Amino acid sequence: MTPLASPVFVGRAAELGRLDDALRRAEAGEGAAVIVGGEAGVGKTRLVEELVARADEAGHAVLTGGCVELEGDGLPLAPVVEALRGLARQLGPVGLVGLVGDRRGELARLLPELGRGALPAAGEDAHSSGRLFDLVLGLLEALAAARPVLFVIEDLHWADQSTRALAAFLLRNVRGSRVTLVLTYRADGVGPGHPLRTFLAEAERLRWAAPSGRERTRWVERVELHRFGRVEVAQLVGAILGATVPDSLVDDVLACSDGNAFFVEEVVAASQDGSLGVVITPTLREALLARVDALPAATRDLLRVAAAGGQRVAHRLLAAVAGLSDEQVWEALRAAVAAGVLLVDQDAGGYAFRHALTRDALHDDGLPGEGKHLHRRYAQAVEADPCLVGGPAQAAATVAYHWYSAHDHVRALPALLHAAEAAECSYAYAEALRHYERAMASWDEVADPGALTGKDRLAILEAAILAARTAGELRREDELLARARVEASRFGDPVRLALVLTEQSRLQRKLGRSDGVSEAQEAVRLVPAQPPTPARAAVLVALGKAFSSVPRRAAGQAAMDEALAVARATGARRAEASALLSSDCLAPVWGEPIDVRRGREIAVELGADDLILASYTHESDTWLGAWRFDEAILVGQEGLRLARRLGQERASMIIAGNVVEAMIGAGRWAEAERMLAQLAELVPVGINAMFLSELRGEVALVRDRLDEAATALATADSLRAKRFVDSQYVLPSARLWAELELRRGDPGAVADRVLETLAHFDLPDVVRYVAPLLAAGMAAAAEAAVVARVRRDAEGLRRALDGAGRLAAVAAELPFERYPSGEAFRAMVAGELARAQGGADPGAWASAAKAWGALGVTYQRACALRGLAESLLAVGDRAAAAAELRAAAAIADELGAHLLRRELGELAVAARVVLSGPGEPVDGLTGGDAETCAADGPPLGLTARELEVLRLVAAGSSNPQIASALFISRKTASTHVSNILGKLGVATRGEAAAVAHRLHLFDRAGSNAP
Ligand SMILES: Nc1ncnc2c1ncn2[C@@H]1O[C@H](COP(=O)(O)OP(=O)(O)O)[C@@H](O)[C@H]1O
Ligand SMILES: [Mg+2]
Repeated sequence: MTPLASPVFVGRAAELGRLDDALRRAEAGEGAAVIVGGEAGVGKTRLVEELVARADEAGHAVLTGGCVELEGDGLPLAPVVEALRGLARQLGPVGLVGLVGDRRGELARLLPELGRGALPAAGEDAHSSGRLFDLVLGLLEALAAARPVLFVIEDLHWADQSTRALAAFLLRNVRGSRVTLVLTYRADGVGPGHPLRTFLAEAERLRWAAPSGRERTRWVERVELHRFGRVEVAQLVGAILGATVPDSLVDDVLACSDGNAFFVEEVVAASQDGSLGVVITPTLREALLARVDALPAATRDLLRVAAAGGQRVAHRLLAAVAGLSDEQVWEALRAAVAAGVLLVDQDAGGYAFRHALTRDALHDDGLPGEGKHLHRRYAQAVEADPCLVGGPAQAAATVAYHWYSAHDHVRALPALLHAAEAAECSYAYAEALRHYERAMASWDEVADPGALTGKDRLAILEAAILAARTAGELRREDELLARARVEASRFGDPVRLALVLTEQSRLQRKLGRSDGVSEAQEAVRLVPAQPPTPARAAVLVALGKAFSSVPRRAAGQAAMDEALAVARATGARRAEASALLSSDCLAPVWGEPIDVRRGREIAVELGADDLILASYTHESDTWLGAWRFDEAILVGQEGLRLARRLGQERASMIIAGNVVEAMIGAGRWAEAERMLAQLAELVPVGINAMFLSELRGEVALVRDRLDEAATALATADSLRAKRFVDSQYVLPSARLWAELELRRGDPGAVADRVLETLAHFDLPDVVRYVAPLLAAGMAAAAEAAVVARVRRDAEGLRRALDGAGRLAAVAAELPFERYPSGEAFRAMVAGELARAQGGADPGAWASAAKAWGALGVTYQRACALRGLAESLLAVGDRAAAAAELRAAAAIADELGAHLLRRELGELAVAARVVLSGPGEPVDGLTGGDAETCAADGPPLGLTARELEVLRLVAAGSSNPQIASALFISRKTASTHVSNILGKLGVATRGEAAAVAHRLHLFDRAGSNAP
């Protein structure tokens, strides 16, 4: 059971960024020192290793040394000696000695292997450390004359006095050099009175000394390494095990390790034995208990009592259980706090173990029976005086937990149920779920649990399922539903079984597994139609929803209509609200969501929080469909605030996803990215994970991070079972895929796959998703056609035109007009179709731009302007094209639409248009005369000869072919080609050819063709 290290370096982007900056400052001769602090095992060494690798890569000389823990005085200057030995290995002894010149003798005092050390001269001793420091600094500077230097000293908390003094000396003196000094220390290892504190104070003083002269920033910096959050723990566990890991494992590892990297590794190693959280490896136990063992006996005893109390324990409760006075508790725990074993939790008036694992190790370390005994005392103490701990919910939870841990199930079972209900009252659903799960375990230990609780087992399962759903714990809900299905079948009550099935139907979709139709159909079969009942209405709603995700809208509508009728006839208000809320899935509305709001009114009347929240999902989605992003954001954020208040943030991630989608639509990508990062902390699973990953891809695309977009898309696709084709997920993913394929893959393959995808759907039902997909597909077909023409690839051209034709046929049948932005998309499809056919349709693009303008969708308008500019160039109207290009570029700049901006830039270079704004190649022109020059003069600033060469390049000729055609040498031909690439600002002959064709350079009358 050896702990495995992660092969992958996880997280720490910001910290590494700051360290990287330090390297850059050293390269620039500014000098930099970074002090890295963090608790043991948090990842200081690993971070430094990563930095060393980067410095190495960047050609820095690297020296590293570490302080070692020794009883009494450490080996003087051990880290310096270690670093110098490493250097001697790199440079050879001669190289090293060469750096110090005539001070070899002094150096040899540190490194005896260099030969006889010089004897200190008489009276030198008093200054010897000063001379030595000078020697080390001189050596670093000599080394830095050739290349920048990174000097790392690790674990400074263990340093001897000389090393500390040397570190302080270097800290002051690296300023203005080509040296980066990195020092690490254990923040939890330097309590009051620790000698490193003086050093840290000095460092702090230097840090706040005002930067001056050439320095851009302070040369002394501090980096605090914190424990990993949930996202990093998940990555770390995944990397260690080399597999995707279930969320439950991540949860457990996070809970045990508190995000400390070393503990994560240990806990994962322990979990390999299937004993997660129970068995603590011997090395880990040793590491954890070492500090406790050094404490006084009274402290250790009280710590053991505290450990039975849990990760945190209130002061008064601890005193009551231990039977000690306040003073005695303070007296005993002071040492534990000073040693960093316990933290004082001022707000809660108690203590917390710094590491949950220390608490576990202590608890496991007790005598047989001791733990149970302590738990019983805790339970009794809180029962006797609930005020010992926080509020009533907390008291209930504490009592239940301790009876359960004392294995007194007769007392535990009712206490757990009471605690679960109390948790629900305070919106703590994950807690409630934990209580219910324990209650189910206790249930099996008690002789007559039914009599004890007045409930049946299925009822507890049902309560647990509801808690899991409300907490957003989809996977737990899934497991519980499977158990409930078995239990309900055994029970022989068809209606209860049917209700379990409706939940399963919904969850199948949420987990991205299937449409859930079969579960819903089975549920409908189980509940008789006559007489009409609320249960019948509920199962019909479930069926209607299941059908809405597949192309069976008519059946879905029929089920939903019947559901509504039955609900109204039987006064089943919940089912009625639910049906109204889902109506937009079946019959989309593109404006005021009237039914949804009516559904919400009923939900509010009923106080049904889940339905109220669902109404925000539906309403924000309706506004999204109408391209009314501001409304979608407002409504979504209102829903999120409510979700947060109700403790249902995780269960409402889809609302958050809608808000992100709206931000993307509105061009507010920075906000969207921030929100996506926050949402990742909530660990989305199933469809939530898929949806958010797709959105990450969307942002990455517009931001011109195409690799990241492709990865995000692949992740999204993998999170959805292939056979589960729900339009709202499949079609947007296909569109993103088409956009990416257009730019980095094979545009010629796009049309086929788009058409294949569309074949699954009744298109008029899903215009909303089909319209953008058709536009993206047509753009790819047009690009494929342009490239095929350039390459004289007849087969490619035929295929591209065929694809374009078939897409056009689909477009001709599509009722674009039913959809708010439909006309804009229709026009864009027409514009791209013209391009595919070798022509240009500025009119189509102009109306697309106008339509987007009317909708207030700025980014799409800029995309249409790009199309307009391109088509104007194709018809030879450069002046007009230049104006559109500039307008589009201004929008792209303002929004930060990097991909669009880059593509506009490329188009501008090809057309020799100067875009205002930074970073654009100017090609020898100023903004003022761009239009005149664009209108006449040699195309693209090429000489007549270069135009001839370009013409041949565009026709696919090689350099030798060009040489023989033009009677020039191959070398000259090659020179012309490079000059052309340079002038066009492109990297390959293919791109040059594409530019020529895109601008119709050689097919216009009056062109400079030879
Ligand atoms: N960013 C990281 N990515 C992957 N593994 C890490 C990371 N940080 C720490 N670890 C692992 O956790 C363990 C403890 O980290 P370490 O750097 O030795 O901690 P420290 O030096 O702060 O005591 C090591 O085995 C290390 O490989
Ligand atoms: Mg370390």
